[in-house]
Amino acid sequence: MYNVEEVRKDFPILSRQIHGKPLVYLDNGASAQKPQVVIDAINTAYSQEYANVHRGLHYLSNLATDHYEAVRSKIQKFLGAEHEDEILFNSGSTEGLNLVSYSWAAPQIEPGDEIVLSVMEHHANIVPWHFLRERHGAVLRWVETDVNGDLDPQAVIDAMGPKTKLVAITHMSNVLGTLVDVKAICTAAREKGIAVCVDGSQAAVHMPVNVADLGCDFYCITGHKLYGPSSSGALYVRRDRMAEMRPFMGGGDMIRDVSRDVITYNDPPHKFEAGTPGIVQMIGLGVAIDYMTGLGMDNIARHEQDLRDYAQSRFAGLNWMNIQGNSKTKGAIFSFTLDGAAHPHDISTVVDQRGIAVRAGHHCAQPLMDHLGVSATCRASFGLYNTRAEVDVLVEALELCHELFA
Ligand code: ALA
Repeated sequence: MYNVEEVRKDFPILSRQIHGKPLVYLDNGASAQKPQVVIDAINTAYSQEYANVHRGLHYLSNLATDHYEAVRSKIQKFLGAEHEDEILFNSGSTEGLNLVSYSWAAPQIEPGDEIVLSVMEHHANIVPWHFLRERHGAVLRWVETDVNGDLDPQAVIDAMGPKTKLVAITHMSNVLGTLVDVKAICTAAREKGIAVCVDGSQAAVHMPVNVADLGCDFYCITGHKLYGPSSSGALYVRRDRMAEMRPFMGGGDMIRDVSRDVITYNDPPHKFEAGTPGIVQMIGLGVAIDYMTGLGMDNIARHEQDLRDYAQSRFAGLNWMNIQGNSKTKGAIFSFTLDGAAHPHDISTVVDQRGIAVRAGHHCAQPLMDHLGVSATCRASFGLYNTRAEVDVLVEALELCHELFA
């Protein structure tokens, strides 16, 4: 049984007040709050166990290296990767996607080669491919979502032509909550020899993921959305694709030998992890993953589906609320505008006075905003500690907005 009230006790920030009201944190899509075990692990790592990793032979360096490297197998299991060395550590999805762009894609993109994207990607999964357009003559092919915000996998498959080198696709939209049938896309891409890079920044937070089952070539996750420290994350790269990658960042740890005229590289994954990494961040992320798997990813998914269904039933009564994205399988992420003059920033400011944190703006997804014909939305994004009662608080605050602005 998933006891959300017990879960909430694990997150110290949830007991604080904002503007004299209990915090209702619904900005999990932007970043999630941290359980005490993660905060404690960060404290212990700095106060008792800190040294650089992979470099020293002394006790603390070995200890820090053991704790840091143990996270690799945790992430391997969390993502269902076949091999531990398929997991690259980094600061999050932005770094992971840029690594795919610079290390794997750039060396092989010729002018006119195509990269297929959905219109609901967030900027981290757009801008690195624009670099290839600007610098290498790549052509970006965009696939639209339908009126419900669903992405037909067949439309993505149809967009793959003889010049397509890569499909870069989100697993779950950070704006619409839409879940993409990545497996169908990967199966078709594999038959055509096309690589698929999946942005798992949102999906991996809300449901179990198995990259081997999906059949993707690359899959990125972001630690701060996974209840872990900021500036932590990982990129799964299938071994055969890793062999095709050239190093991007150069520095310590990614080399075997450096002389005046020659360098040789370390083995993967270290070949793609230059310099002193986010040691404590990654140790904290390992604890966050243990925390989530301890609760059970299936249980988390079920809890959030219940929140989604409950929120949908409450929002259905607000006929002045326009929700973007009504996919049946969507995650508990609601982007909306309200009839009347209220700008999403005004809505966000009013609900903030009630202690409610939501995001307002373009959500780092401007092509999607263009597609939807809006300049901005308000977004309530739910996490594993949110409750039905918090949905009710949000609905009351939106009713107040409606009275104020209609
Ligand atoms: N991509 C993050 C969001 O959805 C920052 O808010």
